[in-house]
Amino acid sequence: MVQNRPYTTVILAMSADGKIADFKRSPARFGSDVDKAHLEQQIAAADAVLLGAGTLCAYGTTRTISQPILLQHRQQEGKTNQPIHIVTTQSGNLNPEIKFFQQGITRWLLTTTVGAQSWQGRSEFDQILVFETPTGKIDPIAALKYLAPLGIARLAVLGGGALVASLLESNLIDELWLTVCPLILGGVNSPTPVDGQGFMSQLAPRLELLEVKTINQEVFLHYRLQQPID
Ligand SMILES: NC(=O)c1ccc[n+]([C@@H]2O[C@H](COP(=O)([O-])OP(=O)(O)OC[C@H]3O[C@@H](n4cnc5c(N)ncnc54)[C@H](OP(=O)(O)O)[C@@H]3O)[C@@H](O)[C@H]2O)c1
Repeated sequence: MVQNRPYTTVILAMSADGKIADFKRSPARFGSDVDKAHLEQQIAAADAVLLGAGTLCAYGTTRTISQPILLQHRQQEGKTNQPIHIVTTQSGNLNPEIKFFQQGITRWLLTTTVGAQSWQGRSEFDQILVFETPTGKIDPIAALKYLAPLGIARLAVLGGGALVASLLESNLIDELWLTVCPLILGGVNSPTPVDGQGFMSQLAPRLELLEVKTINQEVFLHYRLQQPID
């Protein structure tokens, strides 16, 4: 836990030119089986995962743990089989017909007062969290602080680029795992690990390289965010 909030790790696969999806924002299915196992391992280490509405909309499902050894480790640690899956949307505009709502997981919604309106009193989400700024945007700092006392010490952030940008802007990211996959996606409108407005280079978040693994054709980069000096 860091400063009364969960320790956050972003896990993303990207093309060699730094795109996390093609220009049609299709689901990113270009990672190898090794990368999928790596993602599952990171999810298994988390108490909850956070994903943006854009990501959920692209996939229609969320990644669950299927490897027996990972499930066994979680059971030994007294954890539930799957972490809590938290979807975040400001508008609340999600399709209740997608497969995500049939997956055997605990689902929470992180949204605004407006976004919560169409989901309250329904069964899709086990909890609805409303944390908003005075201007009606999601307040990620308050939301993450709320999660810590609920036993959510580790949070895996599964994208996409808009959500990661907003968390980085609020200095809420601790680590990143980026898998560089052997393809080029190109396109000015293809999403990247961090979209949003961007940072001026002098003020850009700085990283410390913790680890590099090369497995077959993929490179797994593990970074820690350097804390800004006050
Ligand atoms: N390669 C990979 O590993 C990987 C992983 C994940 C996703 N992806 C790809 O990434 C793409 C989706 O990424 P994306 O950037 O379009 O969407 P995203 O970051 O998944 O979701 C953005 C949406 O999240 C909601 N949101 C809630 N709080 C927010 C905040 N503080 N800041 C920004 N958004 C917030 C908003 O929903 P509302 O508009 O509903 O209010 C916003 O439109 C897809 O193409 C997917 O395939 C790739």
